[in-house]
Amino acid sequence: MDLRLQIENLQAQITSDIATLDSSERIEEFRLRHLVKKGTLQSLVEQLRLVPKEQKPAVGKLLNELRSLAQGAFDSATERHTPKHVVSSIDVTLPGRNSYVGSIHPITQTVDRLISIFTSMRFEVAEGPDVEDDAHNFERLNFDADHPARDMQDTFFVEHTDRSNILLRTHTSSVQVRVMESMQPPIRCIMPGRVYRNEAVSARSLAEFHQIEGLYIDKGVSMADLKGTIMEFARRFYDEDAEFRFRTSFFPFTEPSCEIDMSCFLCKGDGCRICKNSGWLEICGAGIVHPNVLRASGIDPEVYSGFAFGFGVERVVLMLTGIDDIRHLYDNDFRALSQFPAQ
Ligand code: PHE
Repeated sequence: MDLRLQIENLQAQITSDIATLDSSERIEEFRLRHLVKKGTLQSLVEQLRLVPKEQKPAVGKLLNELRSLAQGAFDSATERHTPKHVVSSIDVTLPGRNSYVGSIHPITQTVDRLISIFTSMRFEVAEGPDVEDDAHNFERLNFDADHPARDMQDTFFVEHTDRSNILLRTHTSSVQVRVMESMQPPIRCIMPGRVYRNEAVSARSLAEFHQIEGLYIDKGVSMADLKGTIMEFARRFYDEDAEFRFRTSFFPFTEPSCEIDMSCFLCKGDGCRICKNSGWLEICGAGIVHPNVLRASGIDPEVYSGFAFGFGVERVVLMLTGIDDIRHLYDNDFRALSQFPAQ
């Protein structure tokens, strides 16, 4: 066959092969078919010597053009398919980045634990409003209008057009009254919640804090039930080998009233920072519900009796953690709060 015709055929072949150069395998096939010594181009070059002398330059030129077409297509396809030197976006020598995981606030964690212990002792959880009236916060709890005990708890009053006795509850005992008004004995409730007192904020006290109150009313409830309940709770919550002492105290709504101390769970009574070297930790105020309080809420004190107790949640958290400034709990400083991952 005429060499010119062969060149034309090969050109058609190479042109259609070029259109398929879309992977490194195809590029390599292309090279082996057309560009190597035993490839198509070279075999036509070898036939050049059979071409009459005067035609050689023109045919040679055609062959050269075809070779550079094939070579050029090969080169640019190779260039396209050779992975560039990629600069890695990951520098494995850099220190790792922390991802922050939220945690449950220590106050919430403590309230949850307290609730789970008391509910396992068959107490129910009851709640009441933060904004109260004088009747529920004071009057029905046996605080006389001019009773000096009202001074024990500095009260925030809420300005109100027609009533001057609206206030922010100073203790969760207000919920005690609401529970007695709405339930018939036997009553076995705990009442967690926020309380408010007009006090200067310091390392030991806040104007807004949390309490949990407990109330148990039934026939024949006595101080022995109060003792048993508090001791069982404190052994489960703090220390199973704890010792207790009951000191007499005063609250208008309980008679007799007491404050309960527990031997320090950390030093077991030897004296340490947590118990301020006394060996004892005060855990709560408590007492037998005053007959006037039962009567004010429609419960007959001749038939029923009950006990109540209450403690401050922040104080519990300070005792358990050894934090020496209550304000750390409310600074919203992640460095402090993240030290209390939920257990
Ligand atoms: N309400 C009391 C206080 O805020 C605590 C308490 C509750 C005491 C129930 C006795 C019984 O200090």
